[in-house]
Amino acid sequence: MTFVGTGYLGATYAVCFAELGYEVLGFDVDVARIAALTAGTVPFHEPGLTELLRRNLAAGRLRFTTSYAETADFGDVHFVCVGTPQRPGGTGADLSYVESAVTGLAAHLTRPALIVGKSTVPVGTAEWVERLVAKHAPGLGVQVAWSPEFLQEGRAVQDVLRPSRIVVGVRSEWAGALVDAAHRGILELAAAEDREVPVVVTDFATAELVKVAANAFLATKISFINAMAEVCEVAGGDVTQLARAIGYDPRIGNRFLQAGVGFGGGCLPKDIRAFQARAQELGAGEALRFLHEVDLINQRRRGKVLQLAAELLGCPPGPGGPQFAGARVAVLGATFKPHSDDVRDAPALQIAAALARAGAGVRVYDPAGMANAALAQPGLRFAESLDDAVRDAELVCVLTEWPEFRTADPARLGRLAATPLVIDGRNCLDAAAWTAAGWRYRGLGSRPADRAPAGWTALDQDDPAGRPPLPRPATRPVAAR
Ligand code: UGA
Repeated sequence: MTFVGTGYLGATYAVCFAELGYEVLGFDVDVARIAALTAGTVPFHEPGLTELLRRNLAAGRLRFTTSYAETADFGDVHFVCVGTPQRPGGTGADLSYVESAVTGLAAHLTRPALIVGKSTVPVGTAEWVERLVAKHAPGLGVQVAWSPEFLQEGRAVQDVLRPSRIVVGVRSEWAGALVDAAHRGILELAAAEDREVPVVVTDFATAELVKVAANAFLATKISFINAMAEVCEVAGGDVTQLARAIGYDPRIGNRFLQAGVGFGGGCLPKDIRAFQARAQELGAGEALRFLHEVDLINQRRRGKVLQLAAELLGCPPGPGGPQFAGARVAVLGATFKPHSDDVRDAPALQIAAALARAGAGVRVYDPAGMANAALAQPGLRFAESLDDAVRDAELVCVLTEWPEFRTADPARLGRLAATPLVIDGRNCLDAAAWTAAGWRYRGLGSRPADRAPAGWTALDQDDPAGRPPLPRPATRPVAAR
């Protein structure tokens, strides 16, 4: 089998399928990337992948190439794993990489083969790919299938080898049998480990929609808890405890209910936008209007950190938002989540850049994402280490929940900082330990104990002690009438 596109998705798949015992060829147009992979270097951060890459290169089951001709000649099943970024100047998905991958490959095919789409695409793409194949490889018996992936960066190896489910959209028995053969290794591994992997065989449209629906649901879950965080902030609740309490209901579940600076990365933000754009094209825009709200809630979380930083540092408001001139801020985290070096649409990096634009002296530290962060935001200053970032800072913002930050000794960091003031943008620190070490701690989605909830001043005008009035029923109880 071949994997066309060796980014986070394709490289991980190529390596893991070689590990399962298949003969694998990875293709990419990026010469440097192919050279790195061939030399046993994973060009991005993904735990466990380097070891598997080297093992399978050495075993001779895995090779990489920049030649479409070699790829077409090698494979019976070709997985399309290229990116589908947000279209420049729009919200829909840019399918130009899918188009060039399919046409580049199809033009070199000489025998029957199956092209399996893995990229996240707007519904209708598989049919369009079929038409491309019919045009560029006519009469060869080349067929198309769609099998979305659900891997999460940082745990991608496990997600490929031990997936929660396999979903395939096929249109013929032959395609179904080939897809089945291509997933035998995963099913056999599951059987050997006494697990089951559910397989859903369906039509093209459903297979394509499963992926975007799953990501839309996850994004909605995160924005739901962040909306609760907004209410907690004004009402005096604590969103972390609230999430725990609702999560005990198995219908709700406690995963993906972590409130904080919101979701980022190369998938959820652009996928919910592309999904809305496609639904609009199909005449079902209203059905997904709530995803616009999901996006807005998510964006507001980033602004919340700036607002809170200004409040804590006593920075004056300006016409375009708070002014941080002269403030020294340590930003801990640049990647969109821990165990990844990916800074695409990362809340941490965007907040760091916004603080710097508003005049703050910002120093950013991230255990794995600094090279990518420096490319994306060359104007920012980066620290050599966690200590280097925190030294002399007047405010520390923890914006990605790396273990290095969660397990850092707050007493030691307190001695380095100019002012022991911390915003925990991921609610990932031990608040009690940081407070005990002398830090003024603020999480997102809670209200400090020393502040009354909004609305109290109006209610308690008559009470000299400042207590709110007891709630009274609007009408007398029936029994008392
Ligand atoms: C996401 C999906 O989880 C995968 O299932 C999917 O395959 C992938 O997109 C994709 O489309 O390829 P990923 O982008 O790696 O995976 O990241 P997630 O683990 O989903 O996290 C996304 C963002 O949500 C991160 O910024 C994370 O910090 C944030 N998040 C996650 C929260 O703010 N709160 C949570 O409770 C969970």
